[in-house]
Amino acid sequence: MSDRYCVFGNPVKHSKSPLIQSEFAHQTQQALEYSVQEAPLNGFAAAWRAFVDAGGRGANVTVPFKGDAFALCDTLSHRARRAGAVNTLILGGNGRTYGDNTDGIGLVRDLTYHRVALAGKRVLVLGAGGAVRGILEPLLAEQPGEVVVVNRTAAKAEQLASDFVDLGAIQGGGFDTVNGTFDVVINGTSASLSGDLPPLPDRLFNANAWAYDMMYGPEPTVFLQWAGPRGAKLLDGLGMLVEQAAESFFLWRNVRPDTIPVRETLRQSLNY
Ligand code: ATR
Repeated sequence: MSDRYCVFGNPVKHSKSPLIQSEFAHQTQQALEYSVQEAPLNGFAAAWRAFVDAGGRGANVTVPFKGDAFALCDTLSHRARRAGAVNTLILGGNGRTYGDNTDGIGLVRDLTYHRVALAGKRVLVLGAGGAVRGILEPLLAEQPGEVVVVNRTAAKAEQLASDFVDLGAIQGGGFDTVNGTFDVVINGTSASLSGDLPPLPDRLFNANAWAYDMMYGPEPTVFLQWAGPRGAKLLDGLGMLVEQAAESFFLWRNVRPDTIPVRETLRQSLNY
């Protein structure tokens, strides 16, 4: 029997993870099965146990279960502990559950793929929810000159900055505290989902700056539509999705898939 993996979420029907992971498995000739598991909102731990009992070896975890996954792990990676969230579960040989978080490294790998330099650069991060907490450690490890986190609820950005200040130059505040221009601006709010745009000054981007939205879709997000005419080069979160998946695959199988053809497959799949 092939080893079994899945993605847990709710709702999860539209997840791209099965497409990505099956492409990786095919490419690397790994015999595995990857399914979609919609866990009940108050029953994540039981769903994971049932999956393990049925032969499950690991899982991706998406909204709204990353906190539940974090809570049930026997062992956590350093980056998962910092993120306060787990997006990758791995069953250990002794039946123990190991949790990791590959979202942040996924973002950094995608930026590297697109040759977006971070070292010494001024980086603005919009939002201070779970998604942003998940990326800050890998982002700061690239040694940007400064990371500024701004959020609609200023206190949350201030708290995040103080939680990560031991890792590098980071400060937090409200949208009204945005000052000066930036080399990289990352939208980690969920505002794109409702078609909203955080209030930002028109002069936000340095020459050759990048605007990155952690969301993606068939059309550019409202944030990217705003950033383009203001001079930024644009990236959406599709590459991050593929790269975080590749890191999960590596954790499970100890084989690193080639993400380039899968980026293309996924981009095409958005047009249907
Ligand atoms: P996620 O897991 O996606 O990070 P979250 O933890 O609920 O979800 O965080 C959502 C983030 O998007 C928060 O930073 C939120 O701002 P608040 O902390 O002030 O709620 C931000 N957000 C959501 N809708 C927004 C909007 N319409 N405008 C600006 N920010 C928004």
